[in-house]
Amino acid sequence: MTQNFSDNTLYEMDNLVVLRGMNSETVDLIATDPPFNTKRNRAGTAGFYVDNWKWGDTDILPDQWKWNEVHPKWLEEIKDNHIELYHAIDAAKHCQGEDTAAFLCFLSVRLIEMHRILKKTGSIYLHCDPTASHYIKMCMDAIFGKKNFRNEIVWHYRRWTAASKRFQKMHDIIFYYTKTNNYIFTKPLQEYADEKYIEDTVRGMVDGKLVRLKDDKGNYIKRETQKGGVLMHDVWNDINFIGPTANERTGSPDQKPLDLYARIIEASSNEGDLVLDPFCGCATTIIAADDLKRRWVGIDRRKDARYHIITRLMGISRKERERIEKHAVDKQMEKYEMHYQTESPTRTDQDEQNLPELSHVYAAEPENPLTHAEMHEILVNKFGLKCWGCNYIPPDKRYLHLDHIIPKSDGGTNHIDNRALLCQPCNSMKSNTMSLSSLRRQNKREGYLQPNEPIDLQSALSWTKNHLIKIVRESPHQYRLL
Ligand SMILES: C[S@@+](CC[C@H](N)C(=O)[O-])C[C@H]1O[C@@H](n2cnc3c(N)ncnc32)[C@H](O)[C@@H]1O
Ligand SMILES: [Zn+2]
Repeated sequence: MTQNFSDNTLYEMDNLVVLRGMNSETVDLIATDPPFNTKRNRAGTAGFYVDNWKWGDTDILPDQWKWNEVHPKWLEEIKDNHIELYHAIDAAKHCQGEDTAAFLCFLSVRLIEMHRILKKTGSIYLHCDPTASHYIKMCMDAIFGKKNFRNEIVWHYRRWTAASKRFQKMHDIIFYYTKTNNYIFTKPLQEYADEKYIEDTVRGMVDGKLVRLKDDKGNYIKRETQKGGVLMHDVWNDINFIGPTANERTGSPDQKPLDLYARIIEASSNEGDLVLDPFCGCATTIIAADDLKRRWVGIDRRKDARYHIITRLMGISRKERERIEKHAVDKQMEKYEMHYQTESPTRTDQDEQNLPELSHVYAAEPENPLTHAEMHEILVNKFGLKCWGCNYIPPDKRYLHLDHIIPKSDGGTNHIDNRALLCQPCNSMKSNTMSLSSLRRQNKREGYLQPNEPIDLQSALSWTKNHLIKIVRESPHQYRLL
């Protein structure tokens, strides 16, 4: 796909709109570190994110999520198009509560876009901690597919916290997924450990440049010769938190070490590849990518995020940085070939095949003008309390579910012209693979068809289609008529 945004660009805005505007399959690597749902007291007020970066205007952003703030359209989109994901979020809601579920919705709608814009050979690394890592893993399995899960990397750092009545918390989790099983991976090596260590831990021996490992029965098996070390393992304990006086320190409490992101970028991209960090903060991923001659795109809604990038690209120290005037830094952008955007890109690759029926009605906007509740209401009002699959007349409208006529998996849309009302048994029998007419045939064969007057499917369908066209025509914005 063609890239519809510039290299080396910072978008200073919400990443959802930017991600939604990016063409599919344009990014080689995503390495990102979203805010956690910690409600942690950072530099100031409890529950709020306060950046103590000197130039940041007092732009206080909450680092917590509430279920009632979840956009109903997000949930419906997840329910319609990613039912496994919906169940994962629902499980989190029951086990850890609504705030975690709200956070997962926030993250998931973005991960869906990240999955779409990754190239087929692309990879994603998502940094989190045990606050929600188990639930995030479920969401990522649902979005990227469990067969594309590569590693759970444990980043073990040494940062002592005030003693509490449990073990010291000293690790973060980085989930590594690829888009397909054909992906870029340059094997990172680590130094040979001493023999005792190897025998104890990997049950192998280092013999010159040959690594021999024992199999389950204790026999030595030959292993690929590793020049200069052994293949790096998934517990990284050789990179520590940035010390208070370190040169790379910006003052942001979220900042992660450059070495950590450099390792990821070297393993999963080549020179000239495009690296994206949609939660780029004070630009660790960006700086590591630039150092390694990768192209990059960063997104952060934090005001003045660009000053982190520019001053770090300039390689100036924190002390100097605080003295430099903002406008003096802005001038540097050209020199560092950096672009600054506050408007999202517009996709140029929208495939019309998403809208087989209605492409004659609206051009590019596939968004559903109606909510689930509205479609349900319209269908009940028009066609009455009756199951479209078996003619059952339920006691009230709660017994009727809003179903897809052509299953999503066969290219059916979420619009009202592809919806039917089904009773619970019909709904679960129809599943994902059956059409409405085969459901009716099966009900007839098995004796479940009720003696009531059936819904005339053909006229129902032409009614809902015309109804949709009418809504789209009357809609003042969003939907463009052809
Ligand atoms: C944990 S920090 C990333 C720190 C980064 N890894 C570093 O080392 O500098 C998360 C960042 O995500 C940003 N953020 C949170 N929600 C966002 C959103 N919806 N769109 C864009 N950025 C967002 C925050 O402003 C914050 O800078
Ligand atoms: Zn039924």
